[in-house]
Order: sequence, then structure tokens, then C-alpha cells
Amino acid sequence: MSLVLSTKKAQNGLTGKLRVPGDKSMSHRAVMFSSLSNGTSNITGLLEGEDVMATLGAFRAMGVDAQGPNDGDLTITGVGMRGLSAPENDLDMGNSGTAMRLMCGILAAQSFASKLVGDESLSSRPMRRVTVPLTSMGARCATDEDGCPPIHVRGVEKLEPIDYKLPMASAQVKSAVLLAGLYADGETSVTEPAPTRDHTERMLKAYGYDCETEKLTDQASIIRLKGGGELTATDIDIPSDISSAAFFMVAASIIPESKITLEHVCVNPTRTGVIDILKAMGADIQLLNHRAIGGEPVADIQVTYVGLKGCDIDPKLVPLAIDEFPVICVAAACAEGVTTVSGAEELRAKESDRISVMVEGLRNIGVEVEERRDGMVVTGGVIAGGEVESHHDHRIAMSFAIAGGVSDDAVTIKGAETVATSFPNFVALTSKIGLHVAPQAIS
Ligand code: S3P
Repeated sequence: MSLVLSTKKAQNGLTGKLRVPGDKSMSHRAVMFSSLSNGTSNITGLLEGEDVMATLGAFRAMGVDAQGPNDGDLTITGVGMRGLSAPENDLDMGNSGTAMRLMCGILAAQSFASKLVGDESLSSRPMRRVTVPLTSMGARCATDEDGCPPIHVRGVEKLEPIDYKLPMASAQVKSAVLLAGLYADGETSVTEPAPTRDHTERMLKAYGYDCETEKLTDQASIIRLKGGGELTATDIDIPSDISSAAFFMVAASIIPESKITLEHVCVNPTRTGVIDILKAMGADIQLLNHRAIGGEPVADIQVTYVGLKGCDIDPKLVPLAIDEFPVICVAAACAEGVTTVSGAEELRAKESDRISVMVEGLRNIGVEVEERRDGMVVTGGVIAGGEVESHHDHRIAMSFAIAGGVSDDAVTIKGAETVATSFPNFVALTSKIGLHVAPQAIS
């Protein structure tokens, strides 16, 4: 079944308090690490989106007992590092690149063969970025000829440690190598050229596994861990996902007279690029009630409408806001003047080619935009409205649903069913603060 969303111009400013669902990156990792632990872990705040359910389904298919999820609560009884059993069927990772790439690192060292498959979008995403380093650790894994899924993995008993220099700033590749490194005979290191989300490193520590990060330059770091250890079950509370909160940060920054608070959001500094970018565009964003939850910094984010100005986005902020660019482009379309996105070619390897898909969608709703190899140039102005295709990409669909809040005519998004991968209650939460996104199911 396919879903169409349609948003009409908001008649009033957005107001109120919202708690968006749990962080997707942390939810995947909590399911993975709890499954491989010794003992029982209680997870709260889990994102019950399709992506995380794909990860959970894979572990259940490999013999892990999990009760829930029930309103974000999930109890997992771990089987230990070597306790997974061979799945009977292919492991379907749905739309999730994180699930597929991280699972590849884990499956490389199991005592059985497995096959990772995905939906149409995932089936065209690059996977050699994980199979190449894993193969150099002695793993036996192969993609299709074009470097895309399915991935066939034949587990090997012991992997070789490597010192791997990431060719691109990718937390998924870093994490796949580190997870394989848990099974390697010695110390594995990964050098990242720029900071990427560090939830794997933080969460490994929460599960009692030593992992050390050393800064090499103002951008690069090296992460090291020794193989052969164990994970110890723990209770973990997952805060809200800043990537989901970002849709509302932008909504409140472009719809006049808005003032909203996003509660209990993970503000890990490897994820807060969207706040820095919106502030550079003049947004009024305050972080309140700072606290630490489960080894991660958390705050309430208050956003008050002030009207945005275009800017040249600092390329150093790109990996720190990598998932937020679709909605940042919507902010740029509503800002006064020109906004330039550069150094962002990784956007082409996401759930869709987010550079060309955003350019196409923005043009469809009347925005002047120039496509570049590594980004785009957006000229702010009035949004006319029109029809947009999501290209199976949840963040494209939600970004254009927000754009409809300021457009002259409605913005209609086709193929919006993928919103359920990361933000199942998106439509309900938008209406809670006064933005009405009308869903229409099409069979
Ligand atoms: C993620 C890392 C990022 C991000 C993705 C989640 C993760 O991908 O885009 O949504 O949880 O590690 P890359 O590592 O490909 O940049």
C-alpha cells in the first residue's frame, strides 16, 4: 500500500511541546548489543520504526528472545558473542542501511552462512564500503556484481585485526569494522577523517566493553578496541532522535509566530550540526535542561520563529548533520537570500540520491535551485506548492510535508509510506503542534 501526504499552509504559528520517538542509531545498536550480551537488558525509549524492527527481526530469526516492544519498552535476553544460531531464511533489512552494514560486521564472525537482503532503495545502495574492509579482516562476504545487496556472508571462526582508514566519513562503516573487531584476534583500529556519530563507541562502553578514541587532528580521530571480550547486559534509556526533531526545528523556524519545545532530545555533539547550521541562518534555538542519559547528553530544544537568512554551510558540519540535509534545504528555500551546500556528495548514497531528489522536489514546488556534484545552491523565496515524489526516502517525504506549511498551494508527497521506517507517528505529532498533514492511503 502506498501513502500520499498533503500539507496546506499553516494559518497560525506552531505551538506546544513534543517528544519525538527514540534515536534510530541508538535503537539499532541497543538491539544488537543486548542480543550479543550475557544477561538480560531492558531497553526503554526504543524507536518502533520499521528499520529497527528489521534489526530486531534478524536477531529473533537467529534465536534471540525479545519481549516487546511495547510503547518503547523491550527486554532482550542475550545469547553471548557466539550464541547466535543460523537463520532459516534471508535476513530482510528492509530500507535500513544501518541495519545491513552493521549486521554485516557481526555476521562475518558467526559460525553459519547468511544472506542480507533489502527493499528497492536499499538494494541499490553501495555495500563494498563494508565488504572491502571486512574481507581484509578475513571475512567471506560478497555483494552483487554492482556492489549492492544482497550480501552473502559465510562466517569465519576468527577474524584478523586491521588498522583501517575510512575513505569517507561514515559511522556505519566505522561501526561495521569495530563490530567485526570484537571477534578479531588482537587490536582493531579505525581512523575517521572527520567526526561521525559515536554511538557505537559510547554504547560499547555502556555494555562494559573497552573502546578508546584518540583525537589526531581537529578533524581526524582513531578508535581502537581489542577483540575477544564480552558484552554485559545493561538497562538503556534511549532519548529522542535529533534527526526526527529536526523536521520540527525547521517547521518552527519557517512558520511565523511559532514557538515549540522538543523534549528529551539526544544532543550528542556528533549529531548537532543541524542546530549549528540553523543558527548560522539566524534561527532562535535554545538548549534547556541539559542532562546525561545512558552515556549521552540530552536536552530540551526550544525553537522560536525569527525568519531565516541564507548562508554558505560550512562543509565541516556536513557529517554532523548528514541526515538533516533534506529538511535543511527546505529551510534554505524559505530563507532570505542564497544558501550553498558543498562537500556533501555522501548525500547521493543515502536512502535516495538526496541531492538530485531534493533538487527535483524543490523545483516541483517552485523553488530556484542549482544542482552541483557535491551539493546545491538554493535561492530562498516564496514556495508555490505542487507534487513531489519521495523516491522511497522517508526524510524526503517528511521534509516536503514541512515545506507545505508555508506554501501558497498544498504540497503533495507521493510514496510517503516509508515515513514509518524512522518516524511512525510523524503525522500525529505534526497535528499536535498545529500543522495539518493529511494522509491518504492508496492501494
Ligand atoms: C548512521 C550513520 C549515517 C546516517 C544513518 C545512520 C548510523 O550513515 O546517515 O542514517 O547509525 O551509524 P553513514 O555512515 O553512511 O554516513
